[in-house]
Amino acid sequence: MDYYELSNSQRIPLIGYGTWRLKNKEETIEIIENAVKCGYRLFDTAFAYGNEQMIGAGLKKSGISRKEIFISGKLWNEDRGYESTIKACKKTIENLDCEYLDLYLIHWPASKAVHKDWEKINEETWKAMEYLYQEGLVKAIGVCNFKVNQLEELLKSATIIPMVNQVEMHIGQNQEEIRKYCEDKGILVEAWSPLGSGKMLKIKELEEIANKYQITIAQLCIKWCLQNGVLPLPKSKNLERMKNNLNVFDFEISSEDMKLLNEMPYLGGSGLDSETITLFG
Ligand SMILES: NC(=O)c1ccc[n+]([C@@H]2O[C@H](COP(=O)([O-])OP(=O)(O)OC[C@H]3O[C@@H](n4cnc5c(N)ncnc54)[C@H](OP(=O)(O)O)[C@@H]3O)[C@@H](O)[C@H]2O)c1
Repeated sequence: MDYYELSNSQRIPLIGYGTWRLKNKEETIEIIENAVKCGYRLFDTAFAYGNEQMIGAGLKKSGISRKEIFISGKLWNEDRGYESTIKACKKTIENLDCEYLDLYLIHWPASKAVHKDWEKINEETWKAMEYLYQEGLVKAIGVCNFKVNQLEELLKSATIIPMVNQVEMHIGQNQEEIRKYCEDKGILVEAWSPLGSGKMLKIKELEEIANKYQITIAQLCIKWCLQNGVLPLPKSKNLERMKNNLNVFDFEISSEDMKLLNEMPYLGGSGLDSETITLFG
């Protein structure tokens, strides 16, 4: 698979495999083996998904060598802070049994709505991320779900600019503001829930556009991310759908259709937001 280049010149595959909601051990091991067989090389994992060990086992069982895959991990909210971030990263590496991470992300920013000292918490956590990078435990560092104001605040004290910002992005939630900001700063945007957790797949207007290209709505959603310069992270348990989601390199969405898709109104999504949601602290 072709790749994007991060600001530190590290290569990252164009499409990643999402691992949220994979819960059953035997099934997850098989799913991960299938994903490797299909050609996925980037695996988007998180401590909070509770399946790091299963994913590590699936990757080992697939027989693929460590250097051929790109493993991304996420720091959970309870582990924010300098010492606890370092400890949590080491635990994740142990769980995934992978020696190092190719990318480590802060899962959610500490937000103003929940924490009086949100700036300080994010600053301390980022300092630890920089340490992990400098020590070589992780090959790249970034964040998830950071809005422009939260990034601006982080950059006041950061010595390394995050290399990635992973945000919810799908048709109808095009994240224009954050994409422009990240592009300016050399931050690659990754799209979580590129299929809107499945919600996009039921939208009639999208079906009509996909039919025109003789592709599935999922392929349309994934290619739309790529043509916007964003790295999509689709998740499917099913082998045929996994393959379908990677099979997006022999067609091009026209600029008229890209404009139409970029201007679509909100069509549904997770409803999660880093400023207002308290569930994630
Ligand atoms: N950083 C964050 O805060 C954050 C938050 C949420 C998610 N994420 C990441 O983003 C990844 C993707 O998001 P997501 O899991 O919410 O959902 P998604 O990839 O947008 O959609 C997944 C849903 O679509 C179905 N699907 C996938 N491909 C399909 C196809 N070709 N045809 C028909 N149906 C298809 C899947 O069902 P089947 O499995 O049955 O095929 C599943 O129900 C997550 O797994 C996770 O790694 C990150």
